[in-house]
Amino acid sequence: MSNKSIVIPFDRPGCSTALAWARVTSEPESKDKPELIARIKQLLIDQNAVLVAHYYVHSDLQDLAEATGGIVSDSLDMANFSHQHRAKTIVVAGVRFMGETAKILNPEKRVLMPDLAAECSLDLGCPADEFAAFCDAHPDRVVVVYANTSAAVKARADWMVTSSIALPVVKHLHEQGHKILWAPDRHLGGYVQEQTGADMLLWQGACVVHDEYKSRELVQLKAQYPGCMVLVHPESPRAVVQLADVIGSTSELIKAAQQSVAQVFIVATDNGILHKMRTLCPDKLFLEAPTAGVGANCTSCSHCPWMAMNNLVNLAHVLETGENEIQIDAGLIAPALLPIERMLDFARKIKLPARGIGNV
Ligand code: 13P
Ligand code: SF4
Repeated sequence: MSNKSIVIPFDRPGCSTALAWARVTSEPESKDKPELIARIKQLLIDQNAVLVAHYYVHSDLQDLAEATGGIVSDSLDMANFSHQHRAKTIVVAGVRFMGETAKILNPEKRVLMPDLAAECSLDLGCPADEFAAFCDAHPDRVVVVYANTSAAVKARADWMVTSSIALPVVKHLHEQGHKILWAPDRHLGGYVQEQTGADMLLWQGACVVHDEYKSRELVQLKAQYPGCMVLVHPESPRAVVQLADVIGSTSELIKAAQQSVAQVFIVATDNGILHKMRTLCPDKLFLEAPTAGVGANCTSCSHCPWMAMNNLVNLAHVLETGENEIQIDAGLIAPALLPIERMLDFARKIKLPARGIGNV
């Protein structure tokens, strides 16, 4: 079998085209915060709701999720947790594909999001009709899609994966002799292709945050901190991944920071993750990987503009009003569920550690 990676031309949406920045709502005055947090805690109880947050959202939301019996985690554990929790309402503080995944797994439950316009450049860069045409053109390939896609794209896939399980799934498919059609992240796909040797045809999407990390500047920063450890999310460009000491999902990077004896870490992923890293390792120094340099975008701030749309004010609002409920075309639920369940079953089979199950 040939080990090749074929590149499809594709124009990705950039931050500058995102409406997101304009919609980031202001944070509450700090004097109003305690009252607002107390109100949300009560609303969660009254509405029989649980808060499921991603590591990239504001620290207030991460802390609130944990303080109220919810979870802050990577996208695999968010899916696992929401699937197993008894609450009638799941509030997802993250981006739209995370809310949609929770809804597909729990169609009988109400899934709310603080802002339904919290998208993801990978999802936006992979329209379902173009993706279907891509699949139709390559019927000999097993279709593996990243979680960061719409329900309609998932409905067309054989497997869904997150960053923490992409490698073992593709390795498994490769060992079975399958050729793979991968979408949408070209960097993660390229990394998985290199690691597994699988024959992968790659959609050319990218994350507007991770695409901005710069390898030359990273080398310079690394040289200033001898003995430091570089932690990289695999949505980053290849040249940055090659400088990493640890490559992994957000949960895996946090675990590496906890377990390492290093005192200084350079982190190439959304800076929302630094809250958890600094809380768990207060004596260690965490630095953001550089985004400035040749080819930098004016919005290279290491923070996802869509994750930033979640805040205490709109969280309280959706709990009070029931607005922003995730709706998915009934015809898409069953076909989109299939690739997600395949992944969750596979995770159980290979005993990938899942978090949150004991908390439900
Ligand atoms: P994780 O699954 O690693 O948390 O990643 C989700 C994501 O959107 C990264 O940009
Ligand atoms: Fe999507 Fe990137 Fe934001 Fe993650 S950080 S949700 S991949 S745009």
